[in-house]
Amino acid sequence: MLRKVTVVGAGHVGATAAQRVAEKHLAREVVMVDVVEGLPQGKALDQWQSAPVERFDVKMRGSNDYDAAADSDVFVVTAGIARKPGMSRDDLVKTNAGIVRSVGQEIARIAPEAIVIMVSNPLDAMCYVARQATGFPRERVIGMAGVLDTARYRMFLAEALDVSVEDIQAMVLGGHGDTMVPLVSYTTVSGIPVTQLLPADQIEAIVARTRGGGAEIVGYLKTGSAYYAPSAAATQMVEAIALDKKRILPASAWLQGEYDLHDVYCGVPCKLGRAGLEGILEVTLSPAEHQALRASAAAVQEVQQVIDHG
Ligand code: NAI
Ligand code: 2OP
Repeated sequence: MLRKVTVVGAGHVGATAAQRVAEKHLAREVVMVDVVEGLPQGKALDQWQSAPVERFDVKMRGSNDYDAAADSDVFVVTAGIARKPGMSRDDLVKTNAGIVRSVGQEIARIAPEAIVIMVSNPLDAMCYVARQATGFPRERVIGMAGVLDTARYRMFLAEALDVSVEDIQAMVLGGHGDTMVPLVSYTTVSGIPVTQLLPADQIEAIVARTRGGGAEIVGYLKTGSAYYAPSAAATQMVEAIALDKKRILPASAWLQGEYDLHDVYCGVPCKLGRAGLEGILEVTLSPAEHQALRASAAAVQEVQQVIDHG
C-alpha cells in the first residue's frame, strides 16, 4: 500500500480513478487537485462518505493547492481540456501542453521522488511534456493508453467469440491514436492463437473498431469522452506500482533505442513495479507490425516537434 496517491484533474477520468484507487486500498490517502474551486473538495468529500459502505479506510481529500499533494508516491495526471469547436489539433496540443507543463513543475516541487502516470491527451506527447517539466528519469514518467486500448480489443474479441474477457491475452502497442498497433500475432485465447478461432476479416474489423474505440464513445456521449475504462486502466497501473507486481503491461515509455526507436514516447510492453518503469520488453514483431510501430512513433514525434517548435 502506498502512502499517498494524487490525481490531478478531478473530472470524469480523474474522479473515477480516485474512487477506484481508494476502493482497492492502494494508498492510505488519495488526493485530488483541480483548478476549479470546490470541485475536488466536493467530490473527495462525497467519495470519502462512500467509505463506510464500500469499506475502505482511505482518507480522501480535494484541493486547489498542490501542497495537499506533497510527498505523494504516485500522481495520475488527467488535467486538460477537450478539443472545442474551431480549435485545431495543434491548438489543443499547445493548450494541454501548457497545462501539463505547469502540473509537472508543481509535481517536481512538492514530490520530487514521485512516479507520474500521464492520462491527458494527446497522451504520448503529454508524457514528453511531463518528463521535460518534471526533469524525472524515464522510469518515473509513463503513460496510460495501451492498457485501455488493449482492454477494448479484448472486450471486442470476447464478445465475438462469446468467451470470458479474462481468457483473451493481447497487447496493443504504439501511440494512442489512429495509428495504434494491435498485435494480432500475439493475441491468444487461453494460449490458442486467435487466428485459429476467428476469420481474418472479422479480426481486421475488430482491430479497426479498437483503433476507433475512443471516437465510438465520443460519438455516443457527444459532450465528453470515455472514463470508466480509462480510469480502470490507470488504476491497474497504480496497482502494479503500489503492490510491486512486476506486471507486463503496454504503456507509453520514453524509448532510447528499443524497437529501433529513439527519443519518442510510444506504447511498448513495460514491466511495472514499485520503481515505476522497471524494464521494456522487446518482442519479435513481423515486418508489417514493426513498420506500423515505426509509423505510429513518427506520428508522435511530429506532435513532439509541434511542442518544441510550435
Ligand atoms: P474532464 O474535462 O472531465 O476533466 C479534466 C479536468 O482537468 C477538469 O476538471 C479541469 O478543471 C481540470 N483541469 C484543467 N486544467 C487544470 C490544471 N491546470 N490543473 C488541474 N486541473 C486542471 O476530462 P476527462 O474526461 O476527465 O479527461 C481528462 C483527460 O484525459 C483528457 O485530456 C482526455 O482526453 C484524456 N483521456 C485520455 C485517455 C487515455 O487513454 N490516455 C482516455 C480518456 C481520457
Ligand atoms: C479514449 O481513448 C479519449 O483518449 C480517449 O477514450
